[in-house]
Amino acid sequence: MINLFPLARPFVHSMDPEAAHNFTIGMLKRGVTGCFLMGADDPILATEVFGMSFTNPVGLAAGFDKNADAVMGAQKMGFGFTEAGTVTPKPQTGNDKPRLFRLKEDRAVINRFGFNNEGLAYFEKQLRSLPGVRKPIGANVGANKDAEDRTADYVSGIKQLYGLSDYFTVNISSPNTPGLRALQSRAALEDLIGRVLEAREEKIKTGAGYVPILVKIAPDLLEADIADIAGVATSTKIDGLIVSNTTIERPEALKSSHKSEGGGLSGAPLMAPSTKILGEIYKATEGKVPLIGVGGIASGADAYAKIRAGASLVQLYSMLVYDGPALVARVKADLAHLLKADGFTRIADAVGTGHP
Ligand SMILES: Cc1cc2nc3c(=O)[nH]c(=O)nc-3n(C[C@H](O)[C@H](O)[C@H](O)COP(=O)(O)O)c2cc1C
Repeated sequence: MINLFPLARPFVHSMDPEAAHNFTIGMLKRGVTGCFLMGADDPILATEVFGMSFTNPVGLAAGFDKNADAVMGAQKMGFGFTEAGTVTPKPQTGNDKPRLFRLKEDRAVINRFGFNNEGLAYFEKQLRSLPGVRKPIGANVGANKDAEDRTADYVSGIKQLYGLSDYFTVNISSPNTPGLRALQSRAALEDLIGRVLEAREEKIKTGAGYVPILVKIAPDLLEADIADIAGVATSTKIDGLIVSNTTIERPEALKSSHKSEGGGLSGAPLMAPSTKILGEIYKATEGKVPLIGVGGIASGADAYAKIRAGASLVQLYSMLVYDGPALVARVKADLAHLLKADGFTRIADAVGTGHP
């Protein structure tokens, strides 16, 4: 593989972080990833989850491509699947700038974007323009900041985009929309999931196919929250959970001058806490609900740790800021090596094996 990111990094990092991000999306829209001659995925990485086939389990997490502008470019980076969004029904500008910070010394990021996006109509148009042959894509839906009935916003997203993505993510865990995380409490979650699943039933009755619906949760959960979420996940027909979003915690060890910025922290310091919650959710759901592990993945060993904690698939975002697109190939190669070294012939057999 030829990787140009090390040459481009000083230039990209000399830009304001949000401008650098927009620059990257612009390049990906043109199909430019900065990496060439990437090989095919090792067959040991192929897996089936949610009734879908993946050539590898490493996905792009939500928030990188909020408007589904660069889906095919992002897929060229070697991901097994990509998730676009969060999209809200109406376009919204999000919080004031600056709202994205690099914590270089900590290999971390803080963002407080607040669901800036072009809205459902634009997102729908982008999905409709995609070619039929591609890796699985997820549509991550959210609620507008000023919505009176937030649940209705999730339902609108699913109805409008139904059939255009391979799965949906109901994002109730962004720390940057005030009150959003309250939807994780048992009663609110049951109501939300009930209405979302009703919308899917209506679509299925009209002849549309079955589209899996996942719920994305925060890492900042208490034991009681975990029990509630696991209870709802096992007693309803949701298809899986994504664990986790960014954290509002600020670990003591953070060194960067930006560490006290408000918003969600992601990247290396999120690896341990998000994997811990992932393991707890796996145990609380007795391995019956497929999980996507996300938070701080910077290596094949990190991805493997999430799989052993209970993830059937993984996602990453923040470490791309530091390591560039070659990270994806490295994570995949190292993960394949680790699986083989432990005698596994397929990922599914390794899921949850970290638990006694
Ligand atoms: C700049 C930025 C924007 C994000 N926006 C979203 C978003 O719109 N929706 C969402 O579900 N997650 C969003 N996330 C969270 C990521 O999808 C992911 O859950 C989190 O960053 C942990 O993974 P990572 O450490 O690999 O980045 C965002 C993360 C970052 C860094």
